[in-house]
Amino acid sequence: MALKLSTRYADGQLPTAAEESNIFARARQAHQALEEGTGKGAGMRGWLRFPSAYVQTEEYAGVQRAAQTIRHNADVLLVVGIGGSYLGARAVVEAVKSRYYNQTRHGVPEVYFTGNTLSEADFADLEQLIAGKDFYINVISKSGKTLECAVAFRHFKSLLEEKWGGNRAEVNRRIFATTDAHKGTLLEEAQANGWQTFVVPTDMGGRYSVLSAVGLLPIACAGVEVDALLRGAADAQKAYETPGEAFGQNACDDYAALRYYYYKHRRKGVEILASYEPSLAMLGEWYKQLFGESEGKRGRGLFPASVTFTTDLHSLGQYIQQGRRMLFETVLTFDEAANNLAVRAKENDGDGLNYLAGKTLHEINQAAFQATALAHAKGKCPNLVLSLPRRDAYHIGWLIYFFEKACAISGYMIDVNPFDQDGVESYKKFMFALLGKAGKEHDKVRDHLKRNYGIEHGR
Ligand code: PA5
Repeated sequence: MALKLSTRYADGQLPTAAEESNIFARARQAHQALEEGTGKGAGMRGWLRFPSAYVQTEEYAGVQRAAQTIRHNADVLLVVGIGGSYLGARAVVEAVKSRYYNQTRHGVPEVYFTGNTLSEADFADLEQLIAGKDFYINVISKSGKTLECAVAFRHFKSLLEEKWGGNRAEVNRRIFATTDAHKGTLLEEAQANGWQTFVVPTDMGGRYSVLSAVGLLPIACAGVEVDALLRGAADAQKAYETPGEAFGQNACDDYAALRYYYYKHRRKGVEILASYEPSLAMLGEWYKQLFGESEGKRGRGLFPASVTFTTDLHSLGQYIQQGRRMLFETVLTFDEAANNLAVRAKENDGDGLNYLAGKTLHEINQAAFQATALAHAKGKCPNLVLSLPRRDAYHIGWLIYFFEKACAISGYMIDVNPFDQDGVESYKKFMFALLGKAGKEHDKVRDHLKRNYGIEHGR
């Protein structure tokens, strides 16, 4: 099994035998509902058997061809999207390559992510960064109407148009749209202009879509082996398909059950995903969207947070050790490191580090992990540990599928629909009203804002 779940650093904060059998029965039931399609939002389980099926499809071959074209011709790929249309791709590129990916790439384009903010400064910085470069755009939006994405797309598409003057053909061959197969403004625009399109599957929410064309095109452009990524996910799909009979048989069930235990029986409110690799910071962002949007509803759910150690031991470490005891940690570790960088011996031991001479940084980082896990668990912040052999495409693919499935099971365990996110719409109602969008529903909100808050649109 590529991924191991250990409770060694839970410091005894584990279910009793009676609790274990109850919790486990609940996890098993949730898992069965997911497999059989009898749970909430069952129509959105397209991701469940996707990795093994997608490799056979014509679209997958098309994604690889498009990636080859972009890699061959572009200096820069701009990926325009937000939430599930952005986080997964960036997480995988950085996790498999490096957070310094754009500075260390070999013969493949720089890849920048935009459409995930309304910050003017961010737009301007990116404009400067790509000035004079031959840039391509992959715009990704399932709905085709998300404001951040649409505004950024309009902006950078205009730059492309200005650059190529009246030459529509040059503009159009530089735009790739990933969107719904049947409807939406983006699809209509793509069809009208002849842009190559890829599909966001209808039966898959954005946060479960990284292993579809949504994530795979940018990931392939960045030079990540997408075959290996999908193989890892497909192997995980097979490994976790059958619900376990007891703890230790299916890590997805075990992880979901333990999360539930900390949430329900130990009254924990926050799960912190910790890793010792700065290049996994974006994976932490992806995990936060996945679990936050899937579980956070009906007044329920663990709040997902993430940290990078040892960096954050010098900031949030204090809180984790001694602050309010509402936390547990899930730590991601890798058994092997790619480079054998070691501390050098010096004749003059002025800095007192010769005791580390010959030790690899990986060994030192692992010691920091063990020490931190022991300390945090003693401080009543139990640690679950997820370990993988290596940080490569295959194992990151495995990990992604593991989290997606464990998240869906977790959602069912707390009786929420892990596949909807209608809470996200609330701020949008106010925002569109304030921005003066036409329509009766927006007029109504404007009236409400004026009457109750004295806020008028445009002031
Ligand atoms: O998980 C989700 O479905 C959301 O986070 C979406 O991915 C996000 O809101 C972006 O939506 P869209 O792809 O429609 O632009």
